[in-house]
Amino acid sequence: MYVCICNAYRDAEIREAARSGLRCAHKAYAALGGGPRCGRCLPAAQELIDREHAAPAVMAVPVAEAPGVRAG
Ligand code: FES
Repeated sequence: MYVCICNAYRDAEIREAARSGLRCAHKAYAALGGGPRCGRCLPAAQELIDREHAAPAVMAVPVAEAPGVRAG
């Protein structure tokens, strides 16, 4: 889904920028290659970033080491 029409930034790109450590929509846009133009998308982009940082990190666990899974 497009979040920023002016720059054609998608939600996945903005979430990825957040996962790289960026916490500000302006900085996320700069990392994606350009700053905001009309600015209408900034509240939605910032909400995506805030949610990404609020969500617990998902860690990959090898199946053989996952609780309740027997190897073999
Ligand atoms: S919609 Fe993002 S700057 Fe205009």
